[in-house]
Amino acid sequence: MPVAVTRRRLLAGIAGAAGLAGTAGTAAWASGLFSSDPALVTPDSALVADAEAARRRAGAATVTTTLTPRPVTLDLGGTTVETWGYAENAPGPLIRARAGDLIRADVVNQLPVATSVHWHGIALRNDMDGVPGLTQQAIAPGGRHTYEFTAPDPGTYFYHPHSGVQLDRALYGVLVVDDPNEPGRYDAEWIVVLDDWVDGTGRTPDQILSSLQSMGGMDMGGMETMTSPLLGGAGDVTYPHYLINGRLPAAPAVLTAKPRQRVRIRIVNAASDTAFRIALGGHRLAVTHTDGFPVIPVTTDALLLGMGERADVIVELTDGVFPLVAAAEGKNGQALAIVRTGSGVPPTATGRPAELDRQVLFPGTLHATEAVRLADRDPDRTHRLTLGGAMMPYRWTINGTTFDESEPLLVRQRERVRLEFVNRTTMFHPMHLHGHTFAVAGTGVRKDTVIVLPNQTVTVDLDATNPGQWMTHCHNIYHAETGMMANVAYQE
Ligand code: C2O
Ligand code: CU
Repeated sequence: MPVAVTRRRLLAGIAGAAGLAGTAGTAAWASGLFSSDPALVTPDSALVADAEAARRRAGAATVTTTLTPRPVTLDLGGTTVETWGYAENAPGPLIRARAGDLIRADVVNQLPVATSVHWHGIALRNDMDGVPGLTQQAIAPGGRHTYEFTAPDPGTYFYHPHSGVQLDRALYGVLVVDDPNEPGRYDAEWIVVLDDWVDGTGRTPDQILSSLQSMGGMDMGGMETMTSPLLGGAGDVTYPHYLINGRLPAAPAVLTAKPRQRVRIRIVNAASDTAFRIALGGHRLAVTHTDGFPVIPVTTDALLLGMGERADVIVELTDGVFPLVAAAEGKNGQALAIVRTGSGVPPTATGRPAELDRQVLFPGTLHATEAVRLADRDPDRTHRLTLGGAMMPYRWTINGTTFDESEPLLVRQRERVRLEFVNRTTMFHPMHLHGHTFAVAGTGVRKDTVIVLPNQTVTVDLDATNPGQWMTHCHNIYHAETGMMANVAYQE
């Protein structure tokens, strides 16, 4: 494989513990190692600029925002924590655009460490993807960086750093891309962001990462078994809190509407190590989209979302007060929001709606609508990604290697590419691909993050139409950070 040793050294700065501040990537970029491999389409390539030019629309609006990652004190509802965030509450600012709009985000880094912003799920230009050492240099403390890209596809997305385990703080926010020809009918819309929370409660995510690494996968925060009949191994980290829209169950967010209204709920799992099982007491959920893209609607009692997955559901509300619960799958604890359309006694913080234990739907099993199905085509090339790992030492791999040792998975523009995620571990892994929305074999459902259960294989196809270098990784941030990442790289 004609890949320079320098590339390995460059990438070593991202995944290893030494890369927490992202400085190794910065140095590599500055010293010109970034363009050392002429065989790959680099983010500064004309091909990347051309792909963006083809997405630009005449007369498109520009949506401008400023993000200021900084130390903040968050009130989770009676409990305050010192952490890092984009705002004085979580999630950070909602960014909202219409498909085809240009999004410009000025990032002002007031953190004591380097950071970056990744636009999860967006098929954007590669040099705006926010991966230090691969698509940009990290934003140094006190530094600024402007992201500017066309958001081509409507849907529910989110943004977060691609630097160390910063996602496990309050550094996340939602990006909604509206459809100018929205076909759905609904009266109101809520955005519901799920998170597992530990920072500021005595341990930081960086301390958890280093204790997982030094203690061999023993998270000293608790003695939970963390397995689930639905997922197998369900997580590595014990969290004291689970949040909906930055709030503890003791002081939950209240979502209001009128009886008989149809509400679209955009649900984002922004957690780092926790899948959530979601249900609304007294109601069923009609799932209309996952990871931004429409599905043939299916009605379910409950929904299971892995880290990085999103689902849009429609509910027809009845009259009263209802718990919207996101139970931490395979763990002890849950997040709560209150849905209120009338009078009634608010649900308790620990109440468990019966719907949670009925039918539970995985979005990866839904079917794409005709409009977003990939055309039938045989793959031009197939990459098998065998997912491995161990607790002692704590280390997660793709094809037997951690990211710093890995070779790029090569593709060429215009190819149909098949990825086979083969899980040889006893844990589930929500596997994510940057810059593309793949089609899951069998159902055709379009997704950018898909759960791969223990000892199972999930096959996905994609059209290689967005040149550049793109991370594919487990969205368990502790797995990604200790190696379960690879680079899907376009060749010239
Ligand atoms: Cu939200 Cu590389 O991920
Ligand atoms: Cu994983």
